Amino acid sequence: MLRRTLVVGNWKMNLTTQQSSLLLRRLQQNIQGHRAVEVVLAPSMLALQPLSVEIDRRKFKLAAQNAYFKDEGGFTGEVSFAMLRGIVSYAIIGHSARRLYFGETLDDVTQKVEAAVRNDITPILCVGETKRERDARETKRVICDQVVSALANLTSAEIDSVVIAYEPIWAISAYGGAVAKPSDVTTVVEYIRLQIRELYGKLAAERVRVLYGGSVDAHDVKGFLSIKGIDGVLVGAASISANKFVNIVSAAYQTHTEVQ
Ligand code: PGA
Repeated sequence: MLRRTLVVGNWKMNLTTQQSSLLLRRLQQNIQGHRAVEVVLAPSMLALQPLSVEIDRRKFKLAAQNAYFKDEGGFTGEVSFAMLRGIVSYAIIGHSARRLYFGETLDDVTQKVEAAVRNDITPILCVGETKRERDARETKRVICDQVVSALANLTSAEIDSVVIAYEPIWAISAYGGAVAKPSDVTTVVEYIRLQIRELYGKLAAERVRVLYGGSVDAHDVKGFLSIKGIDGVLVGAASISANKFVNIVSAAYQTHTEVQ
């Protein structure tokens, strides 16, 4: 089954609203729409609203980097998935920065995934092990805990729309950016699909899109995209450089065309 390639740019806590508009404009000038590749941009929460007006929806979709699972109420400082409905198509959930810096628990992630789906927003669920967990050969246990708990409240029909991003924490640029070997990635991606298969059946396991993230750049994106079972990439640092991101997207077009 040939799934649509997904390229997600996570701008993290970078760029003012003005800089975000400027980057969007440069990307819109240099990226052509392509049926087989979906390009998703995740600017800061503040830039989402203005970008949602400026964006060419034939070329790009928007994603939130985070949101709160309650729809409304006395949760000072938070923005809900209900408020993002209609503005974003996707939401990154359980990113390692959220888990490590902001104490997001497995239970928080479960509730956020559920809230996203309830509000017609596709979750991009991030999972991945730390270097210490990898050295202790705990990768599979960590991935299993994160995947199984995050999807616990979804039906098998709802699983279809979920995207899972495997981001080994030790490979993310902000934490050192060691290079992940294709064989490491293949093993974990196969394991993720196995979990989905056991929980929701063969069809769901074939349909779920799995991304790779961790220091992806223009020079190595083709390598990651050609790993069996990988349907796209989640790009951090390289996504706030217009040149690099344009090259990453065009490499995704080429890879998709080559495998057809
Ligand atoms: P990176 O970030 O590409 O800068 O390593 C990826 C991520 O944190 O999602």
